[in-house]
Amino acid sequence: MDARAKTGVSIRSATKRYGPVVALDDVSLDIAPGEFVSLLGPSGSGKTTLLGILGGFVQPTSGAVWVGERDVTFVPPHKRNIGIVFQNYALFPHMTVGENVAFPLRARREPKASWPKKVADALAMVELSGYESRNISQLSGGQRQRVALARAMVFEPQLILMDEPLSALDKQLRETMQIELRRLHRKLGATIINVTHDQREALTMSDRVAVLKDGRLVQIDTPERLYDRPCDAFVASFIGEATLLDVSRAGDDAVRLGDAVLRTAHRLPRGEKLLLAVQTEKLVIDGGDVHPGANRLSCRVTEVLYQGESLRVFASLGDGTAISLRQPGSHEARRRIPSPGAQMTVALDPQDTIVVSA
Ligand SMILES: Nc1ncnc2c1ncn2[C@@H]1O[C@H](COP(=O)(O)OP(=O)(O)OP(=O)(O)O)[C@@H](O)[C@H]1O
Ligand SMILES: [Mg+2]
Repeated sequence: MDARAKTGVSIRSATKRYGPVVALDDVSLDIAPGEFVSLLGPSGSGKTTLLGILGGFVQPTSGAVWVGERDVTFVPPHKRNIGIVFQNYALFPHMTVGENVAFPLRARREPKASWPKKVADALAMVELSGYESRNISQLSGGQRQRVALARAMVFEPQLILMDEPLSALDKQLRETMQIELRRLHRKLGATIINVTHDQREALTMSDRVAVLKDGRLVQIDTPERLYDRPCDAFVASFIGEATLLDVSRAGDDAVRLGDAVLRTAHRLPRGEKLLLAVQTEKLVIDGGDVHPGANRLSCRVTEVLYQGESLRVFASLGDGTAISLRQPGSHEARRRIPSPGAQMTVALDPQDTIVVSA
């Protein structure tokens, strides 16, 4: 096994203050060797600050950073053996692709004779073999992004840090690159930490996603756990398109929503103020075929919005509470949607009945 496959990262109680601003507030995080972790959160939540502390560009006010067995808290960036990819890919426009990719080898004073093979290997990794002598201006956005990746990987770093590497690309290319990056990660085995504020990107690419809010780490979990079991109302509303509804406790494993009682398969949180977090696609229009143990809600359709691959259906419960759900765009699924004004029954599996404290 090569050395970088064994390098994990550990952030211990990292705090960063800028005068009165707490950019990062006591964040601890262990990232396993070879793991792909995304830092996800709204603007100003501390993602870039955390990445900067990992890379050595930002000195934490307190706390420590370990890379593998080494405390690197006071080690300068160029001595951390980290590959970095930024949002605007910052390639040198006056250099060729080959010169750009060789740049870190030059900076590290690696013997010149070793460059051509290393550059060729890195370009092969991102499927740009033979592009060495091209000018940067002759490349598409996606190709430039891949050159930036090749440049970050050419010196076989233990760790690759990426700050919104795909945000400059259009939607379609971004989705293609997400899948490519995921494959590349499997092939490389390097530890990758990726900053994004795009929840879909985080879910698609990562082994685990760390959600930040106001400088704090709110939840770190696999994409499935994060989506299916958000730990609080913030995560629930930030991931997916959940509706949050006021509910009250109705026993150990049930809540009351209007005049309906919904059973949950999960432990209820403490506290008096509870919210039901329902993702739109988890509400299913009951055509008489849903699981008998499912919760049922009767409601009246208020509006149906056609959105291409799916339809959004708005409805109101008996007490006027608004809910919404998503139906696939197939004609089979569309036939189930009653016309506006009509009554329908929707089902919600107890596994999908997520209650968080308000
Ligand atoms: N050099 C600085 N001086 C003062 N305040 C800073 C500095 N850098 C960041 N901050 C503040 O720290 C907080 C976290 O900033 P950070 O750049 O880490 O957020 P972010 O999650 O990367 O946001 P974005 O999604 O907008 O890039 C913000 O409130 C920001 O204004
Ligand atoms: Mg940022």
